[in-house]
Amino acid sequence: MHGNIGFGNAVSGKLKYRDVGCGQIGEKDVGKEISLCGWVFRNRDHGGLIFIDLRDRTGVAQLVFNPDVDAATHDQAHHLKVESVIAVRGEIRKRPVGTENPAIPTGMVEVYVKSLSILNRADPLPFSIEDNSEVSESLRLRYRYLDLRRPEMLSNLVTRHRVCKTTRDYLDGAGFLEIETPILTKSTPEGARDYLVPSRTNPGGFFALPQSPQLFKQILMVAGMDRYFQITKCFRDEDLRADRQPEFTQIDLEMSFVGADDVIKLVEGLLNRMFKEISGLDVETPFPRLTYRESMERFGNDKPDMRFGLELKDMAEEARMSTFKVFLDALDAGGRVKAILGKNMAAYSRRETDLLTQEVQAMGAKGLAWIKVKDGFESTITKFFPEEALRKMAEKLDAQPGDMMLFIADREAVVHDVLSRLRLELGKKSGLIGNEDKFLWVTDFPLLEWNEEEERFQAMHHPFTSPVDENLEYVLNGDFSDRAAVSSLRARAYDIVLNGSEIGGGSLRIHNPQVQRRVFQLIGISEKEARERFGFLLDALRYGAPPHGGLALGLDRIVMIMTGSDSIRDVIAFPKTQKAACLLTNAPSAVDTKQLRELYLKLTLPEEQGEPEE
Ligand code: AMO
Ligand code: AMP
Repeated sequence: MHGNIGFGNAVSGKLKYRDVGCGQIGEKDVGKEISLCGWVFRNRDHGGLIFIDLRDRTGVAQLVFNPDVDAATHDQAHHLKVESVIAVRGEIRKRPVGTENPAIPTGMVEVYVKSLSILNRADPLPFSIEDNSEVSESLRLRYRYLDLRRPEMLSNLVTRHRVCKTTRDYLDGAGFLEIETPILTKSTPEGARDYLVPSRTNPGGFFALPQSPQLFKQILMVAGMDRYFQITKCFRDEDLRADRQPEFTQIDLEMSFVGADDVIKLVEGLLNRMFKEISGLDVETPFPRLTYRESMERFGNDKPDMRFGLELKDMAEEARMSTFKVFLDALDAGGRVKAILGKNMAAYSRRETDLLTQEVQAMGAKGLAWIKVKDGFESTITKFFPEEALRKMAEKLDAQPGDMMLFIADREAVVHDVLSRLRLELGKKSGLIGNEDKFLWVTDFPLLEWNEEEERFQAMHHPFTSPVDENLEYVLNGDFSDRAAVSSLRARAYDIVLNGSEIGGGSLRIHNPQVQRRVFQLIGISEKEARERFGFLLDALRYGAPPHGGLALGLDRIVMIMTGSDSIRDVIAFPKTQKAACLLTNAPSAVDTKQLRELYLKLTLPEEQGEPEE
């Protein structure tokens, strides 16, 4: 049941549209005369009797048109095209024995139609609502209103609504205020490019759409709001993937006078309530926690899927016992040698191991070393290893006869990246991924990460994240010239991961203006630039900023996981394509020169797109 619609008052002029929803009739109503409205889902002519499945948001009702009741109405029904909108009045009867359909809630009854009004006829559809298996996504997005008529899509939006409703109820109960923050605002750095909006009234000035409400929610804490939340749109111009949209929704929250454990506990309570009310699952709290370092070591990334094992194992010790140059060279260069178990993969042919090697090379590895475990060990590289090293490696990986050991030697970042991706693939391929949802907190993140391209440090979360207490002294007084010391700074940040997907992240914030200035300095933002970009924050921190912290959950990703959707687009009513375009409205689109002039803008487009028309 998709919510309760108030049908009783649905009156237009003299016509009473409907008494109940199509999906709400049942055996209790047998004998009643009622009105229904909806869309013609299916229309079947059984030589004499016509059966129409009438659909609305609440479900499907079977209508029966009998030529003996009214020949004209029967004839109209005969010509009705699917997806036309009709209103009917008729009597609810029990379906004849043997024709019931227990698979649907209204399957025991049908409506014997006495009168029919056609409210709107539908043209032939670009694709079938009932069976869209062959429909391209671009067609679905262009005719999104048709796509959204499909029960799966409706069900996704219902789940999304219920997640929002549960969130509001839970947070209201916990003393949070829902407060809106501006969409036309100033850049909030979350690591993506900004979407910009030119200002007509301030020539040459641009608003940035918020990558998150981060600074406003901190300012709200300074303003004494104590506990804030908002279900809000964020905008990030970044490369899109299956779980990323340029415009997405966060459940954003912030709290004053709290430590990390307070935020973590509150969010665990929220997620527990959500999963209980919507999926009927009792997810166990507290969720397990891993430090960033441990997560990287054991799984190769900071959002491990905990539904299966296949952990990465360090093989430096065994590599040192060998004469295998590939491994020794990697270690000598300060790199790593790590391995993962290929369960039941000892039977791989030469072609299959070559293919797998090509796959990891496409991920950025130089190659893939493998050793099959049979009665003994089998590989072109076993000759470089003493028996003891081979045995130790098999033991570490818990490799049994029939398995294969897979090794990558390289810089640590490459080893971890490639093996974490390989791990996911092997988990899927070997059918090892369990059904139970696995939540995980990842904590103790580094404060900064080195940006190779720009040759500078950047914030790992965002620049407003507080360093851990032990690092405060260095942040305030250190000279920052020691790259190793700067790299080792840690943040009071935490991410929440569900089944290998980062569904949220947050931190305790800097509430001291001097610490904030020094962190800007660490990431190469000059005093002048800090003033220009974040002067309002630095000012606010001077006038009584309470200690505060919070987190933002990715609403779309949570709904994706709850509904088992493969694409984030399936849980958003009007999503954008991989190229960040809206196929329904054709946005973005060209604007006329007058509009550009009013905004003091002149376009310089790449050649092939031509000049804008005068
Ligand atoms: P962060 O950048 O980690 O944190 O974002 C929070 C969560 O939002 C989701 N998310 C996305 N979902 C869909 N499409 C995207 N492009 C996208 N980008 C992020 C993820 C992510 O975990 N201001 C901080 C929060 C804080 O510190 O309180 C922030 O925005 O699930
Ligand atoms: P080679 O000595 O280059 O013929 O490589 C021997 C084996 O080691 C082949 O299976 C390669 O795919 C593999 N290999 C090469 N480079 C690496 C590396 N960096 N990490 C893991 N295996 C590698």
